[in-house]
Amino acid sequence: MIEEKIEQAKQFIEEADAVLITAGAGMGVDSGLPDFRGKNGFWKAYPVIEQLGLDFEDIANPGWFANEPNLAWAFYGHRLHLYRATNPHAGFRMLLALAKEIDNYYFVYTSNVDGQFQKAGFDQDKIVEVHGSIHHVQCSGACKGILKANNISVEIDMDIFQALTTPLCKKCGDVLRPNILMFCDCSWNNLRSNKQEVKYEKWLKALIKQGKKLLIIEMGAGKDISTVRMQSEAISQKLKAKVIRINPRDSTISDKLGIGLDCGALVGLEKIFNNINSE
Ligand SMILES: NC(=O)c1ccc[n+]([C@@H]2O[C@H](COP(=O)([O-])OP(=O)(O)OC[C@H]3O[C@@H](n4cnc5c(N)ncnc54)[C@H](O)[C@@H]3O)[C@@H](O)[C@H]2O)c1
Ligand SMILES: [Zn+2]
Repeated sequence: MIEEKIEQAKQFIEEADAVLITAGAGMGVDSGLPDFRGKNGFWKAYPVIEQLGLDFEDIANPGWFANEPNLAWAFYGHRLHLYRATNPHAGFRMLLALAKEIDNYYFVYTSNVDGQFQKAGFDQDKIVEVHGSIHHVQCSGACKGILKANNISVEIDMDIFQALTTPLCKKCGDVLRPNILMFCDCSWNNLRSNKQEVKYEKWLKALIKQGKKLLIIEMGAGKDISTVRMQSEAISQKLKAKVIRINPRDSTISDKLGIGLDCGALVGLEKIFNNINSE
C-alpha cells in the first residue's frame, strides 16, 4: 500500500516545477528534537516542568518573562542551545536537492522556531517562520525591538530549572524574550514574520502568473495547532496543487488533495527520493 503511494509521490514530483515545503515540529524528530505532542511528549523532554505541574501551554507564556524571568529563560535558553547544537537530518538535504533541480523555485512555510531549514542550507529569503524564530529575541518591554540572538547564551541550573542570568535589552534594560509567538501572547512583535509572509505571498502570485505546477510536501504538522496543515490544504485547494503529507500518526488527507504517508519524515523522504534516484 505504501509502495503505491510512494509511486504516486514520485509521479507528483516529476510533474512539479515548484515546491512548497511545509513543516511542523515532527520534522525535527528525526534530527533528535522533541515534538510537544500531548503532555507526555512535552514532559518527557522537560521532566522538571512536569514536577512544577506545568504543561507546554502554561510555560510557553510571555507572563513568565515579567514574573519569573529565570524560569522563562531556563526553558527558552535550553531550547535555544538545543536547536543550535542540532544538525538537520538527511531529509532536509533531499528536499534541498529537489529545490535545486527545479531551479530553486521553492518556499518553506513552517511553524518551527528552530532555524533548522536555514541550518540545512535553505535560502532565508524563501522561508516563512509563521510562529517566529528562537534565534531572534525581542524586548519584552515597550521598545519591542527585534535582534539576532547570536550573542545570547544562557547558563542554566537544570536541577532547579533556573537560568543563572537573563538577557537584558540594551536600550531600556527590560528582559529580552524570544521573538516567537507564545500562548496568550499579545506582545509578540510579528514584524519579522510578516515580512517573510509578504515575500511568500509575492512568490505565490508569481507562481500563479507563470502557470507553474506546484507540489506541496508537508512533514510533521500536528492537528492541535493546525496552522501548517491548514496552509497546505488551503494552498492545495486554491492552486490545485497536490500534497504529500508525511506523518506517522496524523497522515490523513482527502484523496482530492493528495496522499498521506504513514511514516516519519526521514523514512518517507528516503523512500521517495531513493526510489527516484534508483530509476
Ligand atoms: N522544533 C520546533 O521549532 C518546535 C518543537 C516543538 C513545538 N514547536 C511549536 O509548537 C507548536 C506545535 O505544533 P506542531 O503541530 O508543529 O507540533 P506537535 O508537537 O503538536 O505535533 C507534531 C506532529 O509531528 C508528528 N511526528 C512525530 N514524529 C514524527 C516524525 N518522525 N516525522 C514526521 N512527523 C512526526 C506527530 O504525529 C504530530 O502530528 C507549533 O506552534 C510549533 O511552533 C516547535
Ligand atoms: Zn527594550
